[in-house]
Amino acid sequence: MTQPKTVTVIDNATGKQIELPIYQGTHGPDVVDIGKFYKELGYFTYDPGYVSTASCRSNITFIDGDNGTLLYRGYPIDQLAEKSTFVEVAYLQLYGELPTRKQFKDFEYIMRHHSMINESLKGFFDGFYHDAHPMAILVGVVGSLSAFYHDSTDIHNPEHREIAAHRMIAKMPTIAAASYKHSVGEPFVYPRNDLSYCGNLLNMMFSVPSEPYEIDPIAERALDMIFILHVDHEQNASTSTVRLSGSSGANPFACVSSGITALWGPAHGGANEAVLNMLNQIGDVSNIPKYLEKARDKNDPFRLMGFGHRVYKNYDPRARIIRDMCHEVLAKFGDANDPFFELALRLEEIALKEDYFIERKLYPNVDFYSGIIYRALKIPTNMFTVMFAIARTVGWVAQWMEMISDPEQRIGRPRQLYTGAAQRDYVDIKKRK
Ligand code: ACO
Repeated sequence: MTQPKTVTVIDNATGKQIELPIYQGTHGPDVVDIGKFYKELGYFTYDPGYVSTASCRSNITFIDGDNGTLLYRGYPIDQLAEKSTFVEVAYLQLYGELPTRKQFKDFEYIMRHHSMINESLKGFFDGFYHDAHPMAILVGVVGSLSAFYHDSTDIHNPEHREIAAHRMIAKMPTIAAASYKHSVGEPFVYPRNDLSYCGNLLNMMFSVPSEPYEIDPIAERALDMIFILHVDHEQNASTSTVRLSGSSGANPFACVSSGITALWGPAHGGANEAVLNMLNQIGDVSNIPKYLEKARDKNDPFRLMGFGHRVYKNYDPRARIIRDMCHEVLAKFGDANDPFFELALRLEEIALKEDYFIERKLYPNVDFYSGIIYRALKIPTNMFTVMFAIARTVGWVAQWMEMISDPEQRIGRPRQLYTGAAQRDYVDIKKRK
């Protein structure tokens, strides 16, 4: 029998020695259990940004950043993107296995039949100013779902958890499309049960009551594929936010709403919107060297948006799939010579030859090319991160469900290194200057 692996930590100040267990996962680095570190040695551990810290055990998604591998429940992302559908991948991530034909049919039925939102919820949209950012609307409306669906907020009841998960995944396109319609002053379009998940989203966004709207199968498939790529990405900032909120026992709608807020930031899901703004700013291939110079300059806040990743130190496999898809989508809808696509390709080519990017292993990430496809599909820039949120809802709810049923789950409560003022006595205001 092999001995369990451990690591020995010696405190040089006191000579005290402790042995910490090492756990092995299916793939990826082993993990040292530091749970007793403070109790035994009296120290906290320090890891800003969680660079070396595993916050949980998870069976859902695996990333190998050095080799550019992404697996959902063990299945490589390129196989799923090519052969599966978003709804099937949602089932896979929620339940752990690919569905049987019957399970798939039932799940699709559920997704279609949970897509309507409560009629009174529609009134919420009118409360937002017409130029509100759709992400702001999404945060508010998703959070408010908990006020409507009391029958699915008992987090200790597995059936409630499942219904809440289904509701959020199914209703997200309806809420997203409604936030878009509100911003352009057009009437809301109800979901239709005869349409696919992405077909429905396109119809709710772009159809108007006054004329027929035809869903283009290439647009539908392109959106479905982008959504598959965005479903989950293990313990990223928004997912960790959902888990942390959920660890306090908050209801799932509130937790997902908190995930949306974390996703909104330009260092995370907001990057797809920021990439298009950046390409617009660069404007022309001749300006690329100037902007690369700005990206290298430590005193300049400019960063190459859509470049770099905490985990991938190799080409993001999702970026490769999206880049290939750009050709097909642009040939059908946009200008096959879309200047933004040309600019993005040249920017990537030039950046990847520069020492700065090579040394730091900075490659295009999923958001570098996704905006170009969204643009070709006529999705406005401020809706890009909303698109991301629709797909990522699957990951958030799958991770939340896993967390709730994990026997090791406790409230998430990080510690800190306090560097503020030492204890001191209050000075009466009359005695101050
Ligand atoms: N442009 C220029 N330099 C960069 C970039 C970039 N996009 N990304 C990282 N660097 C540099 C940093 O300045 C740093 O340089 P230094 O070692 O000389 O100080 C080094 O590369 C490491 O960068 P960190 O910021 O420490 O890496 P971290 O893992 O904390 O950040 C992040 C990762 C946030 C994604 C970062 O690369 C970034 O800001 N990228 C642009 C925003 C973006 O595209 N975000 C989307 C991520 S994917 C997603 O969320 C879906």
